[in-house]
Amino acid sequence: MPEETLRPFTFDIIRAENVILNTYDNHIKRSLSAMRNQYHDEKAYEALLNQQDYMLYEVYEVKRPEIAGELLQGISIVHPGKVGDEFFMTKGHFHSELDTAEVYYCLQGEGLMVMETPEGEWAVEKLIPEKVLYVPPRWAHRSVNTSRNEDLVTFFVYPGNAGHDYGSIEKQGFRKLVVEREGEVQVIDNPRWLPPEAR
Ligand code: PA5
Ligand code: NI
Repeated sequence: MPEETLRPFTFDIIRAENVILNTYDNHIKRSLSAMRNQYHDEKAYEALLNQQDYMLYEVYEVKRPEIAGELLQGISIVHPGKVGDEFFMTKGHFHSELDTAEVYYCLQGEGLMVMETPEGEWAVEKLIPEKVLYVPPRWAHRSVNTSRNEDLVTFFVYPGNAGHDYGSIEKQGFRKLVVEREGEVQVIDNPRWLPPEAR
């Protein structure tokens, strides 16, 4: 075995009051100010931001080289809350290397994964504890926390060479939005979304 060969390693998911990894290399925090133009109710966004730059979600990453053959892993924690009637969510992205997939395993909370292809096909899958979600190659993905009071915690694994492409999502968002209306979680059309041929 060559000297530089990496030895197998383990890490623990600690299910304390806040779920965390016992070892990680990177802790990403995204607050409201990093989500400008992502929520459909712009007035509600500005009003909430005036109150406080609330923390929306956090990611703990285990670093590996960003090359094909490696796998990147970590946990994502979306806090509960809403901007207007729209639930807190991640930015969402395509993988820069479009033909790469991702696996999510839900550890805690309840939410939805909103997904779509570059052609505009869409899908929404429920995330609840012990649910495993396979996001196939080519599908953009965004985690949405639909709980009133609990964090949505997922473990994820994706190829080292995948990369994150936020471009088109930042411009017009996903085709579907997740809102609370009449006390219910609803998946509605995003009025800003245009089909690929109309962009
Ligand atoms: O690669 C993934 O899908 C996750 O690690 C996400 O990056 C994480 O959930 C945060 O979402 P986003 O990168 O869209 O802000
Ligand atoms: Ni991804």
